[in-house]
Amino acid sequence: MKKIIAGNWKMHKDRAEAAALIDGILQASGDLPSDVDMVVAPAFPFLADAVDRTKGTRLRIGAQNVHAATHGAYTGEVSVAMLASIGVQYCIVGHSERRQYWNETDAEVAKKIGALLRAGIKPIYCCGERKEERLAERHFDVVGAQMKEALGGFNEAELKRIVIAYEPVWAIGTGLNATAQQAQDMHAHIRSLLRTHGSAVTDAVPILYGGSCKPDNAAELFACPDVNGGLIGGAALDPGSYTALVRIAGE
Ligand code: 13P
Repeated sequence: MKKIIAGNWKMHKDRAEAAALIDGILQASGDLPSDVDMVVAPAFPFLADAVDRTKGTRLRIGAQNVHAATHGAYTGEVSVAMLASIGVQYCIVGHSERRQYWNETDAEVAKKIGALLRAGIKPIYCCGERKEERLAERHFDVVGAQMKEALGGFNEAELKRIVIAYEPVWAIGTGLNATAQQAQDMHAHIRSLLRTHGSAVTDAVPILYGGSCKPDNAAELFACPDVNGGLIGGAALDPGSYTALVRIAGE
């Protein structure tokens, strides 16, 4: 399966910095392995500019969030139709920061995924356990329950268009990445849960790892058979480390 390196820029980079990061990645992308899909997710105000800047290149643009409704009185929100109208191709949903600070639930995430699929935008669905859940050895159950609630209502054709990102919350922004074994065990578990939806789904859905993934530890993580790339925070904010990750994913 083709690997994906997706950069989640979170609430970083102003207009000029976002443009410079995209240009830096594009300048380096000539000699990068072609069998890796490259995605970056800037903040909302810079998405349209990012799409324009990357026209005709291999770099794809994603959003970090979306609202499930088609339109309406939802002050401060952005719809899938708005994203689609400017050419956004991916959208992160269910990130642990949205779950933590905005109490986003898997039921809401399921609605967002449905809206994105109807608009032809690929959802990057984030799941992952918190530290106390890992310590209580409940991580497989927690992720299984998240997936059931968010993905359980979709059919085979829909699920085949989803990307999953396993992001253990204790690894995000902490410098403490999951070990290759921990990542592989969870990714294999996620894949086995997908198997209940049919082997076409199992084979089609990329499962990315996220959480303190950087050039130093990526080779080991990306070598795991069920790790199909990464959803990268901090290390995606610099063109050198982002493109290094693309290179490692292509090895
Ligand atoms: P870090 O790579 O900074 O740990 O962030 C991971 C993440 O949350 C990506 O969505």
